Amino acid sequence: MMGLESKHIILGVTGGIAAYKSAEIVSRLRRLGADVHVIMTRNATEFVAPLTFQTLSGNQVVTDTFQTPENWQVEHVALAQLADAFLVAPATANMLAKMACGLADDMLSTTLLATKAPVFVAPAMNTGMWEAAATRENMSRLQARGVKVIGPGTGKLACGDVGAGRMSEPAEIVEALQAYFAEGEDYRGLRVLVTAGGTRERLDPVRFMTNDSSGKMGIALARAAQGRGAAVTLVYGAVTQPLPEGVSCIPVESARDLLRVMEKETPRHDIIIQAAAVADFRFRDASDQKIKKNGQHEITLVMVENPDVAEAVGRLKKAGQTLVGFAAETGHLEENAEGKLTRKNLDLIVANDVTRPGAGFNTDTNIATLIWRGGRQEMPLQQKTELAGKILDRILALRKEGR
Ligand code: CTP
Repeated sequence: MMGLESKHIILGVTGGIAAYKSAEIVSRLRRLGADVHVIMTRNATEFVAPLTFQTLSGNQVVTDTFQTPENWQVEHVALAQLADAFLVAPATANMLAKMACGLADDMLSTTLLATKAPVFVAPAMNTGMWEAAATRENMSRLQARGVKVIGPGTGKLACGDVGAGRMSEPAEIVEALQAYFAEGEDYRGLRVLVTAGGTRERLDPVRFMTNDSSGKMGIALARAAQGRGAAVTLVYGAVTQPLPEGVSCIPVESARDLLRVMEKETPRHDIIIQAAAVADFRFRDASDQKIKKNGQHEITLVMVENPDVAEAVGRLKKAGQTLVGFAAETGHLEENAEGKLTRKNLDLIVANDVTRPGAGFNTDTNIATLIWRGGRQEMPLQQKTELAGKILDRILALRKEGR
């Protein structure tokens, strides 16, 4: 991944036990060529000495303990304007609450309020605090304003609890900054609708039919589009993955639920990517009571055709919209995928031969061929997260050509 030469990064360190890990963040950023300026809250200085950050960053550390409030006006404007990116790590519940309210009662919150640079936060706190209604509301407000959230991870916390609230690892935090600078925000201003996971077709209140889809590909696409600045809506069926932060998520169960949501959401999106594994059939005689054995040795279940959601979305397509579908095949890959491209009025189809090891359902990797009218591109075995980025690149290239 790219270096961070000539980037000015302001790192805000707040008072949490994870503050010691921020020293590693500074070292990593410096190794990538960034100019790092650290602002510490008074509480942070109780955990780590400012001298540590001063030595590692090579810049004067700004703390509330050393500066008088009169200096704030000059200093906060200077750093706020200098920043190419602002990172708060660890971000305590208290600092996130201050940011959400626009409070400016110390050097860090004052500078954050003044900056126009993109802001990243790496929350770190006890699970109860992370899950508290107030913190949930604060996070939604911050994300709605475009603040990018890294983590937190799940694991054993300093207080002994096990759960969400652990600050993400320094390497992961630095990668998020690199990804931001590498990709820029080429999806800013675009509204992207993604479907993910398998549908469930109910037989009765305790039984349903589904498929092997994990939602990994669709979730990777939603996360990547959001990271590149898009406003993303994720419509998800059965998934095994955590849902991405900062994305508006709509749950669905059956193919018919999915159709209803897509008919409503399609008109207000620019790019629609349908990675969901939709059941082609549903039970004709679904029951709202549990089906009993009643002494039978055999039962026959009749299934009837489901609507083809992608085809319905294809009929709604307006100028300026880009439709992307997937094709899961076990033979005649290209011929079948091209048929779906035309039939569903798609601009791009991602074809996988799901019989190949490392491709298809419920794996972290995929092997695919991207097919569009007049072109194709082979995607060898790679992580779904990596493939997601390449699919997004191809979509932008097609849109630039006016398709
Ligand atoms: N799809 C859909 N509604 C369905 C079936 C599929 O919207 N009832 C979408 C999927 O989300 C995917 C694309 O259509 O983007 C192709 O799905 P796939 O299962 O490969 O193909 P099918 O159209 O179901 O065709 P077949 O089962 O005959 O291969």
